[in-house]
Amino acid sequence: MATAEVGKLRNQVAVITGGGSGIGKASVELFAREGAKVIAADRKQEALQELTTQLANQGYEVIPVVADLASEEECMRVIDTALQSWGRIDILFNNIGITVPKVLHETTNDDYRQLMDVNVSSVFWCCKHALPAMINQRSGVILTTSSKTGIVAQRDSAIYCTTKGALISMMQAVALDYAPYGIRANAMCPGIIDTPLLDYAISQAPDPVQFRQWNEQAQPLGRLGTADECARAALFLCSEDASFITGVALPVDGGFTAQ
Ligand SMILES: NC(=O)c1ccc[n+]([C@@H]2O[C@H](COP(=O)([O-])OP(=O)(O)OC[C@H]3O[C@@H](n4cnc5c(N)ncnc54)[C@H](O)[C@@H]3O)[C@@H](O)[C@H]2O)c1
Repeated sequence: MATAEVGKLRNQVAVITGGGSGIGKASVELFAREGAKVIAADRKQEALQELTTQLANQGYEVIPVVADLASEEECMRVIDTALQSWGRIDILFNNIGITVPKVLHETTNDDYRQLMDVNVSSVFWCCKHALPAMINQRSGVILTTSSKTGIVAQRDSAIYCTTKGALISMMQAVALDYAPYGIRANAMCPGIIDTPLLDYAISQAPDPVQFRQWNEQAQPLGRLGTADECARAALFLCSEDASFITGVALPVDGGFTAQ
């Protein structure tokens, strides 16, 4: 039996991008179990379909939208799906992200544009098209997945770090501008989290085995974080438990940025 009548997000409409894998997938599952109606967007059709079918079979309300969000039209389509399906958007969780592990002078213009479009422009476009509905509602929560690399630099990832820093600034500015409408906006800053994105970054390292060991030991808690731990932090920031929290960048990093 699904739990739409109970949970921290009961009857809330949530849009989650990057719902096909890692942190986004864990968040779609958790938000649905906490009572939200979820639009899960991702460019990975198969993974998204598998997840949403599984949740629908358990009675949860989850709509998959296959979309490449490096385009304003596609971002609009995702937001419109929520508005046409359920008439409102209570939570926008901008979570897609890619990495290009390169130092700055080896980063091509195509790499740069792709990183900017996927990691930053998609958040701009999703916010731009969701905010009018939130303003009308006089309520709403925006959460964007930045990174510890938005707070402290990481080697060999100059433009990835650039995008993640930009997202923290964007959320702070949104928090200020839309507070009068009862809208909160925050960033979540994961540390090193065990997801396919990390696997990709490790595979690109000159010595993947050594780089994996370094990652496991780099956080004071002495291990990688999990997608589920990030999903639980996201749930907190998107729920009424965080009703007086806006404009923050919350590290979920096992102590990495405290060093
Ligand atoms: N894993 C980590 O260590 C880590 C650390 C800090 C921040 N992050 C951030 O967390 C977020 C989630 O990452 P993850 O680790 O779960 O990675 P992931 O690769 O497992 O999931 C990211 C999802 O985003 C989707 N996506 C990427 N580009 C897209 C596009 N253009 N249109 C639609 N969907 C797209 C992918 O298909 C994928 O399903 C990202 O923003 C990432 O930068 C991850």
